[in-house]
Amino acid sequence: MFIKTKGFSATELDQFLTLQRTCFRIQTEMARELEVGVTEKSVARELFRRYRAAGAGNFFHLPVVLFGERTGLPGRWGIGNFFPRDTALKEGDAVILDGAPIFDGFMIDTSLSFSFGDTPAHDEMMASLLVQRHKIRDAVNSGASFLSIAEGVAADCAALGYEGVHEKHPGAVLGHRALRLRWPRGWRLRGADGVALSWFLMKIGLSRFFARQSPLWSRHATSDHAPTDGLWMVEPHFSNGEFGAKWEEILVIEGGEARWLDDTPPPAASHEGAKHPAHTMWVQRGAFAAPENRFQGKCPGSVAFYQCLAKY
Ligand SMILES: [Fe+2]
Repeated sequence: MFIKTKGFSATELDQFLTLQRTCFRIQTEMARELEVGVTEKSVARELFRRYRAAGAGNFFHLPVVLFGERTGLPGRWGIGNFFPRDTALKEGDAVILDGAPIFDGFMIDTSLSFSFGDTPAHDEMMASLLVQRHKIRDAVNSGASFLSIAEGVAADCAALGYEGVHEKHPGAVLGHRALRLRWPRGWRLRGADGVALSWFLMKIGLSRFFARQSPLWSRHATSDHAPTDGLWMVEPHFSNGEFGAKWEEILVIEGGEARWLDDTPPPAASHEGAKHPAHTMWVQRGAFAAPENRFQGKCPGSVAFYQCLAKY
């Protein structure tokens, strides 16, 4: 078996937990160090460097960095729109950091959202998103289908006047599988791990005939089944038309029972009353100044930038 999706040992789950904490640490440190004027590209490049320094090989997806209105995925939003731009960070901007590195075959995918400065509307959105953290876990434990859980998130989101823009992500997913790849080193397809991506595409194809095969959790008919055991990256993403926010972390489902891999990762810790470090460390910010773009002149566009990063 080259790809494992469920039946993980305690040791393997420990490794997923350790690596998820590593990824949140990298994102939290990055959040604390941002300063006015850094660009999405410079932060994406720095995150890439830090994931690599922490031991990442390939990436399920390269670091996504969104500033300001782009956090809400406005308008027609395709995969190319996730690629970092020259957009510079401004005071009061919403920020999303989302990275999916693979460490020795363990695929991790975490997201951190925060406001660069005090924005009560952002705090409100995060609070409503974190309510979903409890509701999603409890709904799995009640035996609800993946489809009805995704419908519930969409209904709550609409009732709050938000748009559920996770449905603008590839596959319109509320979540997707996490994997352990037993493959020496995958090749890259536009920056993504070729083995993982091929596996997802094959399973998505099979899910047209066997719903439980789907590695995606969405409002599509392929999710009309009881929750599937294994590890799921859950990532509700709301927008109010001006900005968006999300969180992403691993939900463990074993024998139909769900629990979060980590009880209080950074996004949840902020909801439990302890202010998120990214909200409280502004007095210390400014440690990260964008280095010179080493690809300047060679990679003028965002797609080209990611292709350069993918070869790095
Ligand atoms: Fe992600």
